[in-house]
Amino acid sequence: MSYVVWDESMSVGVPVLDDEHRRLLDLFNGLLESGITPANREELSSLLASLRDYVAVHFAREEAMMVRCGYPDLDGHLAAHRYFADEVEKLARDFEGDNPTMLRVDLILLLKDWFVEHIQQTDSQYKPYVGQLA
Ligand SMILES: [Fe+2]
Repeated sequence: MSYVVWDESMSVGVPVLDDEHRRLLDLFNGLLESGITPANREELSSLLASLRDYVAVHFAREEAMMVRCGYPDLDGHLAAHRYFADEVEKLARDFEGDNPTMLRVDLILLLKDWFVEHIQQTDSQYKPYVGQLA
């Protein structure tokens, strides 16, 4: 599912969260489409920084909304977010570190597929709860 873009089937019923999901998928697609080459390092670096920052902003908003509506499986959802944020962090650290590596397309695809599955399977479960806040 490499070039998946957001569509209505992924809607969690809250426009601001849908917008953020769309933007995150666009950032993944931007990374994949920009050409993963050393010549492209600057663009990749800025896309990766945007991805890392936006993941943090988005998860914080989603988590605050789940807390507000008393979502019952908060702990499981938080653990999934921590896992993903750590993986993105690791990717950025390896790319920007003292001994920088190139981005690996397969790792980006894995993370993107994880995120699409997360929206469809995990985020969709809070829909009836968080939807009441909207
Ligand atoms: Fe989530």
